[in-house]
Amino acid sequence: MIFTVAIDGPAAAGKGTIAKALAAHFGFAHLDTGLLYRATGRRVMDGEAPVAAAENLAADDLARTDLRTGDVGKAASEVAAVPEVRAALLQFQKAFARREGGAVLDGRDIGTVICPKAEVKLFVTASDERRAQRRHRELVQADPSLTVDQVLADLKERDARDAARDAAPMKAADDALLLDTTDLAIDAAVAQAVEAVGKALEQGRG
Ligand code: CDP
Ligand code: CDP
Repeated sequence: MIFTVAIDGPAAAGKGTIAKALAAHFGFAHLDTGLLYRATGRRVMDGEAPVAAAENLAADDLARTDLRTGDVGKAASEVAAVPEVRAALLQFQKAFARREGGAVLDGRDIGTVICPKAEVKLFVTASDERRAQRRHRELVQADPSLTVDQVLADLKERDARDAARDAAPMKAADDALLLDTTDLAIDAAVAQAVEAVGKALEQGRG
C-alpha cells in the first residue's frame, strides 16, 4: 500500500508529535524533514558551503544530538531558503513519501511540493505565544537563562523567513485540513489526526 500523510505548519506547532503518534498508530514510517535542514545547517555552522553540506548529508549527521537548539534552527531556516539545497534533498523525501507500507512526513512543504498528491494533508498551527511556551519548556533545561520572549522572537523570525522565501515557502495546501492546537492537549490533537487518516484509509478501501 502506498499512502502518504503530509503534515506542515510553523515551528513548535505540534507537527512532530502528531506525526510520530500517527506513524505508531497506523504502522507507517515517519520522516521529520526538518532534521534534514537542521543537519545541513549544522554542517554550515562547522564551515561547509550550504549546497555541499546538503549533498554530503549522511546518516551520522541526522543522528547528532545537538540539532534541536535555537541556533541550529536559525541556520536550518537560512539554508532552507537556498533552492539548490532544497533540490539536493528532494528525491530522498519524495521516495520516502511513496515507499511501500505508508509514510508520514512533517515539515513546511510536504503537502505543496514534496507530495502534492498525499492522501491526507494536515496543516498544524497554534498561537505564537503557545508555541513559544512549548518550545521554551523543551529548551530551558539545557539553557536555564533562556526566556520565553527570546524563544518567541526566534520563532517569529524563522516563521517569517520560511513563509516569505521564494523556494517552497511554508503554506497550507488548498486541500489541507487545518488543525489548531492552541487549546488542544496532545491527546486530543492526535485523536483528530487519527480520525482524519482513518477516514481516508476507509475511503481508499471502499
Ligand atoms: O514538530 P513541531 O516543531 O511542530 O512541534 P513538536 O516538537 O511536536 O511540539 C513542540 C512541543 O509542544 C513538544 O514539547 C510537544 O510535547 C508540545 N505540544 C503540546 O504541548 N501540545 C500539543 N497539542 C502539541 C505539542
Ligand atoms: O521543529 P520546528 O518546527 O521548530 O523546526 P523543523 O521542522 O525542525 O525545521 C527547521 C527549519 O527547517 C524550518 O524553520 C525551515 O526553515 C526548514 N524546513 C523546510 O524549509 N522545509 C521542510 N520541509 C522542513 C523544514
